[in-house]
Amino acid sequence: MMELSALQIRVARTPGLGMLPQITAQILRLVDNPNASPRQVGAVIERDAGLASKLLKTANSSYYGMPGKVRTVSQAISVMGLSAVRSVIVSQAYQQMAAGRAHSRRFDKVAFWQHSLATAVGARILARFKGWRDPEEAFLAGLMHDVGRLVLDRFLPNEFDQAITLSLERGCSLIEAEREVLGYTHVEVGAMLGEQWQLPNNLMEGIRLHHQPMPFEDSPLGCLVYAANVLAHQAGFGLAAPVLYALDPKVHESLKLPEGQFEGLKQVLVQEVSRTQELLKIA
Ligand SMILES: [Fe+2]
Ligand SMILES: [Fe+2]
Repeated sequence: MMELSALQIRVARTPGLGMLPQITAQILRLVDNPNASPRQVGAVIERDAGLASKLLKTANSSYYGMPGKVRTVSQAISVMGLSAVRSVIVSQAYQQMAAGRAHSRRFDKVAFWQHSLATAVGARILARFKGWRDPEEAFLAGLMHDVGRLVLDRFLPNEFDQAITLSLERGCSLIEAEREVLGYTHVEVGAMLGEQWQLPNNLMEGIRLHHQPMPFEDSPLGCLVYAANVLAHQAGFGLAAPVLYALDPKVHESLKLPEGQFEGLKQVLVQEVSRTQELLKIA
């Protein structure tokens, strides 16, 4: 068994998961800064030719409705918007981190990626519905909410395997099984990594609070990601045991979703996940 503090030291010393790719971290911080201009963000992207060409391909996809017309990074930023550019860049980096073979025998990384993306898309849908100022921020908070599981898979593969097995055998949620096997969960581990990455506060809320039902007013992103995680599980983008996740009535109430609306959102989610998946594949 490894204490959380010992795990923290190991993660910090390991290249790869321990560090967010530098350019991704830079983009995250820049877009989060209200004084940053599209020109500054463009300059960072242009320094990396690979990244710039990926972004152009994305901006020229049919998703944005201007196929073949976007020629420069600054045009791409104005077509997509700064926040969407940030989402695409961070998603690609995150997808890379989540790719490759799992270390734990029973951890399905493809399902993990699908679950992460579905939660991201769900958070964005709910954020738009709620009129939240930056739906793309909700997307990123959703995308990274379970990042702690990548750490568990990488650094504690045997224990993580035991937790997955336990959740399957008992039909309990994976987070419960993690707590039983490890004494802590992917939530604390994810928060530890997020701090190491110096993630903006709102993204940290998605990581820290996504298993804690709370009203939107208390933590907008915590609440959106919590609800999006439930929505993703219900729509078939789950992990490990097929546990029934129900939306807490308090959350339902504070999101002001009309009766039956949450059900309807599942279909919207499935469609939007496949469109976003396509968009990320382009690059
Ligand atoms: Fe989680
Ligand atoms: Fe999750």
